[in-house]
Amino acid sequence: MISSQLQLASYLLASILFILSLGGLSSQESARRGVWFGIAGMIIAVLSTIFGEGVEGHAYIIAAIALGALIGILVARKVEMTSMPQLVAILHSFVGLAAVLVGYGSYLDPDTQSLVGTERTIHLIEIFIGVFIGAITFTGSIVAWGKLDGKIGSKPLIYAGRHVVNIGLVLFSIVLCYWFVKTGNIEGMNYLYMMTAIALFIGVMLVMAIGGADMPVVVSMLNSYSGWAAAAAGFMLGNDLLIVTGALVGSSGAILSIIMCEAMNRSFWSVIFGGFGNAPSGEAMEVTGEVTSVDHSEVAKMLKDAESIVIVPGYGMAVAKAQYPIYAMVEQLQSEGKEVRFAIHPVAGRLPGHMNVLLAEANVPYDIVLEMDEINDDLPDTDVVLVIGANDIVNPSAQDDPNSPIAGMPVIEAWNAKQVVVMKRSMATGYAGVQNPLFFKENTDMLYGDAKDSVAKINASII
Ligand code: TAP
Repeated sequence: MISSQLQLASYLLASILFILSLGGLSSQESARRGVWFGIAGMIIAVLSTIFGEGVEGHAYIIAAIALGALIGILVARKVEMTSMPQLVAILHSFVGLAAVLVGYGSYLDPDTQSLVGTERTIHLIEIFIGVFIGAITFTGSIVAWGKLDGKIGSKPLIYAGRHVVNIGLVLFSIVLCYWFVKTGNIEGMNYLYMMTAIALFIGVMLVMAIGGADMPVVVSMLNSYSGWAAAAAGFMLGNDLLIVTGALVGSSGAILSIIMCEAMNRSFWSVIFGGFGNAPSGEAMEVTGEVTSVDHSEVAKMLKDAESIVIVPGYGMAVAKAQYPIYAMVEQLQSEGKEVRFAIHPVAGRLPGHMNVLLAEANVPYDIVLEMDEINDDLPDTDVVLVIGANDIVNPSAQDDPNSPIAGMPVIEAWNAKQVVVMKRSMATGYAGVQNPLFFKENTDMLYGDAKDSVAKINASII
């Protein structure tokens, strides 16, 4: 058992470690250190909470943690890198559910019933808000998991007057909160249940209203919601560390959402309130032109003749695990004096920073990995752009077709290069489910096949 002073000091240390962890995660060089800071902070946080004053039933708590840790290790070991977003989404749902259960438990706790006056009112409002945010996070994250996993269609579910319905439901929840605080006895649970049902419904509708291409923002937004749900649980339990940690996750998730919205040219407020509201009303433009394909030796020749090459990796590179042979190709081309760089779109793949992580794994030096904005202007002077397993992020409809679901999203302007080769298995669409006119352009050739196989075959010709 540790004293409350020691517990406070441990909480402070854990908070500092969490801040250092977030700081570390902001760049690839320091990310590993950031993760270790996070692990150390979490161990200190858990131990100082379990062995704090007034905590009983240690055997049950330790058994629950051991079981949870075992499940976590098994799941995290099994999950493919490409399924990470689904895992993150489902983990957010657990935080939401935990906030709901903590809220119920906190209300039924006899200590709560003995509170009086303003203190009691504040505590009941904390419970109400905590359960509300938790329930929205819970169902919103489950729907996000379904959409990311392809179990739920990526088309936005939008109906007329949905904003009015949502606002009406929030207003009704405020009325329920008033009754809940006024009642304050066991009957108050009924109001809590009613509000939970409403919040669960709002969570579903908020995320259902968002289309496939905009899912990255939803994932970071739910990350933020889960942080606020944890902070609310901290208020209910009177645990300072949980409040600090929840606020860190909530605000960093919100900042990430804003950055993603800016990168995708979307309004932050429309994401917060679910659905972008301005879904295109007309028909998408028809794609015209002819698709031409090439084989590996032709691509090898193009690369041999080129002076400057830009590689645009996408989700398909992650699926194929093609980053290793790609880097072998880059090293060979560089040894022949060619300029080879990577162009990274902010939402390439399925996770923020997905491509950067994979390229770092293959030891690609950071200085040849450029952001979309840094490289777009250089593309007209580039001899060959190799698009490897990418689709939506190089789709010119984002600029040319106001009725496209991805209209307005900034994209890598691969078509401006002298020659473009797109490596993918078929003419299938990408995550947003829209046809890509890039494939039909005169200066574009398709190289069909699994990205890893294709790159290995090119390597066999050039190395
Ligand atoms: P996508 O548009 O999803 O396109 C990936 C392409 O890779 C597919 O068209 C697929 O075509 C191809 N592919 C799949 N497996 C392959 C393999 N083994 N070998 C070669 N090609 C393969 O990916 P993107 O261009 O990276 O764009 C990302 C999309 O995901 C955006 O719409 C984005 O909004 C969304 N999203 C992103 C995130 C984050 S945070 N990054 C999160 C959720 C959603 P074939 O089937 O023909 O091979």
